Amino acid sequence: MSAPAPARTQVAIVGGGPAGLMLSHLLRLRGVDAVVLEARPRDRVETRQRAGILEHGTVDALREVGADARMDELGLPHDGFELRFAGRSVRVDMQELTGHRVMIWAQTEVTKDLIALRLEQGEPLVFDAEVLSVSDVETDSPLVRYRHQGAEHELRADVVVGADGSYGPARRAIPEHLVRRFERVYPYSWLGILADVAPSSHELIYARGRTGFALASMRSPSVTRAYIQVPNGTDPQAWADEAIWDELAARFALDDGSFTLARGPITDKSVTPMRSMVTEPMRHGRLFLAGDAAHIVPPTGAKGLNLAVADVRVLAEALGEWFASKDERLIDAYSDTVLRRVWRASHFSWTMTTMLHVDPDGDPFDEQLALSHLHHIESSESARRALAENYRGLALGAV
Ligand code: PHB
Repeated sequence: MSAPAPARTQVAIVGGGPAGLMLSHLLRLRGVDAVVLEARPRDRVETRQRAGILEHGTVDALREVGADARMDELGLPHDGFELRFAGRSVRVDMQELTGHRVMIWAQTEVTKDLIALRLEQGEPLVFDAEVLSVSDVETDSPLVRYRHQGAEHELRADVVVGADGSYGPARRAIPEHLVRRFERVYPYSWLGILADVAPSSHELIYARGRTGFALASMRSPSVTRAYIQVPNGTDPQAWADEAIWDELAARFALDDGSFTLARGPITDKSVTPMRSMVTEPMRHGRLFLAGDAAHIVPPTGAKGLNLAVADVRVLAEALGEWFASKDERLIDAYSDTVLRRVWRASHFSWTMTTMLHVDPDGDPFDEQLALSHLHHIESSESARRALAENYRGLALGAV
């Protein structure tokens, strides 16, 4: 059990997903107290299926806070990935091109480890805490009101961090006229499956098939994760298992016939819409936004979790400095600093998305541009290197 939540803390963190939890740990290492309020029950947070690629910087952060033991035991380091199009395959060797690799370790598992560690430390983390309002963010003691087990509570803090996702309440504490919101909704979604069968490839495959995108990923040596592009509004249950496997096989097919898709029992099906969103600024007074509360990327670039962790690494440093010395330079720079990375990742995710999906509203010109981009990656090492650098993630400060 966690400690009872105090009524006052240094940092009130709204949201107990990876951004909020990671921030609480990074702050603790800097001697800063925090209370984490999560709207959902623990089992819901721990079972949500999300993406699974960790950049090197995210792996470093998990090591720094001591949530790395299960990742090191069960995570799968990947040196490269494959692109497929027009019946051909191109390998992007990240290790060779950039000197870094990525780790397959599901966000669900990251979240479980961050929760277990926080509870083990006896630090405040409240589940089922429905935040009612965030106020007084223009004063030096902002207030969070929340409901927990039928009773209303108040939490006063020096700083509030909104890490409560794209539909969370924290962002609304920034006056509407100060916010700029940028959005792109893509005209397709992903149907994702989990299946009890060994992955068909030891590396991820991103494919532009004739009928649309497909991705082969994995959760372990015996569990396959895969996705296919489907129209927006698709009901996952309307897709029979065999039809999903047939579509995956068609989209991954190689002209030389050398690829065989391994099929097995599907244990989970879900549909994720593809959209991009950025809100600026990410700070107003004593309120700071982090992760999905400020930005969403389509999953094609595998950047969502990594951006959230990058945000809180910068924020923990800035808040640590401010609590220690009252030096405001880093907290003042926070929004601009992280937004540069957010836009870089938004551009990369858009590039991957448009290059690999078949736009139902597109024309033959769009199709040729996408294929031209893939041909360029196939023939140019510098194009592959640029892709690999973005995929494995740029160093903090290198954006
Ligand atoms: C996943 O394994 O769920 C996954 C991997 C790579 C992506 C998106 C999702 O780009």
